[in-house]
Amino acid sequence: MREQTGRITIRGVGHTYIDQDRKQRVRALDRIDLDIRPREFLCLAGASGCGKTTLLNIIAGLVRAEEGTVSVDGVVVRGPGRDRGMVFQEYALLPWRTVLDNVALGPKLAGVGKARRRELAREQLDRVGLAGFADSYPHELSGGMRQRAAVARTLAADPLVMLMDEPFAAVDAQTRAGLQEELVRVWQDSGKTVVFVTHSVEEAAFLADRTVVLAPHPGRVHTIVEGRVPRPERRAVAAGPAQAEVAAELLHEIHAARALDGVR
Ligand SMILES: Nc1ncnc2c1ncn2[C@@H]1O[C@H](COP(=O)(O)OP(=O)(O)O)[C@@H](O)[C@H]1O
Ligand SMILES: [Mg+2]
Repeated sequence: MREQTGRITIRGVGHTYIDQDRKQRVRALDRIDLDIRPREFLCLAGASGCGKTTLLNIIAGLVRAEEGTVSVDGVVVRGPGRDRGMVFQEYALLPWRTVLDNVALGPKLAGVGKARRRELAREQLDRVGLAGFADSYPHELSGGMRQRAAVARTLAADPLVMLMDEPFAAVDAQTRAGLQEELVRVWQDSGKTVVFVTHSVEEAAFLADRTVVLAPHPGRVHTIVEGRVPRPERRAVAAGPAQAEVAAELLHEIHAARALDGVR
């Protein structure tokens, strides 16, 4: 049997959108080559418009790349699949379902029976600290709690790869730090590969094994910055000097990449 480890191989990926309003072509991604390691926590960073969401959607199979291929453990992505789970920036919880039923939706779509999927959902809610809110509705939760429920839902579907597009951008700074710490814990004990889009250099410096900095128009890999700081020494708030240095390097690279906007 093929070993499933969550290795993502991106080769020659390019994508052009047609901007209907301005009647022009937008080169969103150009010749992207990237090897994402099994169980890696990889961040995608860069100025707005550099193609982060497009690349994530191509990995998810929600957008079909015009050129090149993405493979997960050697299998070419041709559409969405159970090996990959997406957490969107907007929580995308169904307002008419309880938190438990929202979280159980992933396993339900995968054909898991009712008792088992409720059990899986309870496990994941417990993991993200929402055990007491299983019977609440999304509108009864705070923004941070809704985002945790969205993470739990993706976890309950048990994908090999978690794809996250600025999932914590809409929550306040204090809540965000807690969510980041939780995510790292969940990632460490689940052994999943995570691809996480952010425009926050502090977030990337805390979360990432490596951060890919993209340059805009066309979207391309500008550089890759190593997370460097050992995990136990990292802090979601009040980062030490080594972590702050990684964040500063990221900021520098994002600015340098932005200066390449429109330059091929
Ligand atoms: N559906 C679309 N139609 C036309 N242009 C798009 C569309 N989606 C994205 N773009 C353009 O492609 C480029 C990359 O967008 P996106 O992947 O959303 O970047 P990011 O997530 O880094 O902000 C931007 O210039 C954006 O305006
Ligand atoms: Mg985006």
